[in-house]
Amino acid sequence: MFIDSHCHLDFPELANRLDEVLARMQDNQVTHALCVSVNMQDFPRVLALAEAHTHLYASVGVHPDYPDVTEPSVEELVRVAQHPKIVAIGETGLDYYRLTGDLEWQRQRFRNHIQAAIKCSKPLIIHTRSAAEDTIRLMQEEGADKAGGVMHCFTESWEVAQAALDFGFYISFSGIVTFKNAKALKEVAQKVPLERMLIETDSPYLAPVPFRGKTNEPGFVKHVAEEIARLRNCDVDTIAQQTTNNFIKLFNKIGN
Ligand code: NI
Repeated sequence: MFIDSHCHLDFPELANRLDEVLARMQDNQVTHALCVSVNMQDFPRVLALAEAHTHLYASVGVHPDYPDVTEPSVEELVRVAQHPKIVAIGETGLDYYRLTGDLEWQRQRFRNHIQAAIKCSKPLIIHTRSAAEDTIRLMQEEGADKAGGVMHCFTESWEVAQAALDFGFYISFSGIVTFKNAKALKEVAQKVPLERMLIETDSPYLAPVPFRGKTNEPGFVKHVAEEIARLRNCDVDTIAQQTTNNFIKLFNKIGN
């Protein structure tokens, strides 16, 4: 069995044909998925998915790519995260690729999310793009190791992976690891300790080979596992079993 540790089932590409998407999960032995929040306005739809389906979980948080949205306070994040289906804070982090200019608001938002995660003892889901140095610096300054979490859709260097591993974080690989030109990332996927690895789709984006360019969905996560198994010269069942155990350990949820 596989678990998709990061997807956006509330996005219209997937929400508009949810039955089909859930059926394909089942067909592909993808037993659970974590629906990740990107802003407070859409969060109720994310939570509704997790409430309606026992095998779906949710997170709460505001993605760094949304500049003009409601900014939740640390207290509000902590309060909302008390819900039994909320297993993480995020996605949060820094993105200096999509947005430029004075991004102090992004750093402050990230700090708030780290503080909330520590307060409510839930792990962080961290997005970082073209901002690795500041991401690691803020994790250090705010004590993100006290909350733990995952570097989602990892595309950074082995050095950045090591820094995150040193904070006790997990590294999650998406369909990008299946892309032919992702040579450096494939090497990182060979080095990350199996007991600290997760797999995800980040659907509806980043469909793995052989679906590259199409709408992604949680049922495709097994192609990520297959590529990692190939890179590490092991059985896909080993990757499936270990990443499932890691998910359960990190998010404190037992599959049913
Ligand atoms: Ni995402």
